[in-house]
Amino acid sequence: MQILDGQAASQAIKESLKIQVAQLVAEGRKVPHLAAVLVGNNGASETYVGAKVKACAEIGFKSSLVRLDEGISENKLLGIIDELNNNMDVDGILVQLPLPKHISDEKVINAIDIAKDVDGFHPVSIGRMVQGQPSFVPATPHGIMLLLQHYKIDTKGMHAVVVGRSNIVGRPISILLSSNASPGNCTVTICHSHTKNLNEMCLQGDIIVAALGKPGFVTANMVKEGAIIIDVGITRVPDASKKSGYVIKGDVKFDEVAPKCSYITPVPKGVGPMTIAALMKNTFKACAENN
Ligand code: GUN
Repeated sequence: MQILDGQAASQAIKESLKIQVAQLVAEGRKVPHLAAVLVGNNGASETYVGAKVKACAEIGFKSSLVRLDEGISENKLLGIIDELNNNMDVDGILVQLPLPKHISDEKVINAIDIAKDVDGFHPVSIGRMVQGQPSFVPATPHGIMLLLQHYKIDTKGMHAVVVGRSNIVGRPISILLSSNASPGNCTVTICHSHTKNLNEMCLQGDIIVAALGKPGFVTANMVKEGAIIIDVGITRVPDASKKSGYVIKGDVKFDEVAPKCSYITPVPKGVGPMTIAALMKNTFKACAENN
């Protein structure tokens, strides 16, 4: 069993981007600028956006954190997106989800200029990705593909079982794993809350992508010997013994599943850091294409 070390792979990608940014600076060219929009004060969102802003600083990107009150109106937020769209200095725009209930995620995502859609959530970006056209690929699935690539895992012909059908992870990763590319060329099954015989489905997976947000959901009896396990879960579970008051748990019972696997991502330090690395790559690409 080998651990897929997202921290190390992410670091390698960030180091490479850092060198490319230094080159831009040496040539007197514009450095990438990411604008992150954070509405309200959801603790997890604060942490994720903080990590994204920190990664920008490490690499030498410019970043702007636009903090907005939980009660901001949808129209006002759309106005701010419009300003960022028209700001020539901003290359990438990220609106951290979830948004408060009174704001439509869909309206906000659709308002982002597709040339700056570094999260790859805009329907045009998704449509392009589905058709194999150049596009921004959502950061978490993009990060998973980069991790498989980093470890030179040839997924051709494998059966990938994706548990979860979200727009952010489950659906896009199923498209990427099934695409005619390397990594890719998998036969993909998408499972969800209405799937019958989920255990048997998972047992057929050469790869299991667990992206349902239920801590410890995937157990050893659901995993075949030698499978590759990608754990996308990052749920905060209350734990009074911790200073923060919680621990981060993945969707996979790591201790019992790991001995059966060929490869497995840990939580933390698996998929999480790869999401950030992929976002940084998307932001670099947006800058290169728009300037
Ligand atoms: N919320 C959970 N994951 C993501 C992500 O990748 N991007 C944004 N913007 N919000 C998220």
